[in-house]
Amino acid sequence: MRTTITAVAKYLPERVLTNSDLEKMVNTSDEWILSRTGISERHIVSDGEATSDMCTRVAEQILEKRGISSKELDVIIVGTVTPDMLLPSTAALIQNQISATNAWGFDLSAACSGFLFALESGSKLVESGKYQKVLVMGADTMSSIIDYEDRETCILFGDGAGGVLLEPSSNDSGILDSLLYTDGGGGNFLKMPAGGSQHPASHDTVNKRLHYITQEGREVFRSAIRGMADATSELLKLNKLRIEDIRLFIPHQANKRIIDSCTERLGLTPEQVMINIEHCANTTGGTIPIALAEAVETNRISTGDYVVLAAFGAGYTWGSILIRWDNCT
Ligand code: ACO
Repeated sequence: MRTTITAVAKYLPERVLTNSDLEKMVNTSDEWILSRTGISERHIVSDGEATSDMCTRVAEQILEKRGISSKELDVIIVGTVTPDMLLPSTAALIQNQISATNAWGFDLSAACSGFLFALESGSKLVESGKYQKVLVMGADTMSSIIDYEDRETCILFGDGAGGVLLEPSSNDSGILDSLLYTDGGGGNFLKMPAGGSQHPASHDTVNKRLHYITQEGREVFRSAIRGMADATSELLKLNKLRIEDIRLFIPHQANKRIIDSCTERLGLTPEQVMINIEHCANTTGGTIPIALAEAVETNRISTGDYVVLAAFGAGYTWGSILIRWDNCT
């Protein structure tokens, strides 16, 4: 049995934080941000809006598009590193908000690879034959863990959510193959040090600004290019596909220069690559499902096309997933 994607949707908060807004907050410029990252603006949640709220908007759209009731959902998986709270899970909060009374669910922590790891997990649940409708989402409220006094990180991130409905495939299309990796040796290059069991929240951790993301930008930059490009070329080789067979490559949107380098390494043409970082920035778990939803909205993929998703993020975590696109709303 194979798993396929039957519906896709995204949600971006209304509020927009532009590069010129950031110029007033830190020592930066629109020109620097745009030329070094490809980002012009990012969406930011409104007061009180959290990851589960964004996911609920995505889930509602997916149910409506597919014309099914929330009672038909079997499982809800959320790839996120910014859950509403440590417990209960964001999946449980969404399950309650949409009254998916027959679904169980869980959050999955793999940073920018969260959606890919969740997609793999959800697709194997469907392939087991036990579950027919699995809702997989990737979402992050990055503004909740960003230091808006640190110009090296605050310019990169935004908030957003996206998701897909997974069901058994009735033909040859669907999720064909995957290559996923973790290397905890990369842990120190990108992390949020406090708030967990190692450094529980205290006055000291707050004073030392340990509840924000810190990173070695250049190291992450190099590893992201290598990770996404190598995983993708290996996956294509394993499936005996040539680069020209790919209709659309949808990479994690961290930095346009990372995407351009991957494109060049793989020998893709610009028409084969989905880029929406300019108006979304890096929404961590959200980037790939948001880009996928926008690719469908703009008719960049059709039934039968080969689509490759690729991600790289904290952990390190990374990988690539190959899909033959099916009928999808
Ligand atoms: N505005 C103006 N100047 C800045 C800014 C800013 N916002 N940020 C850094 N600079 C300065 C630096 O201080 C440095 O100044 P110096 O030369 O006087 O020391 C100069 O710009 C160049 O800094 P670099 O670090 O070399 O700049 P680089 O071109 O590498 O870009 C960036 C930095 C954007 C962080 C890049 O390394 C990057 O995108 N790395 C990947 C990080 C990432 O994506 N993290 C997200 C999570 S992981 C993931 O999603 C894959």
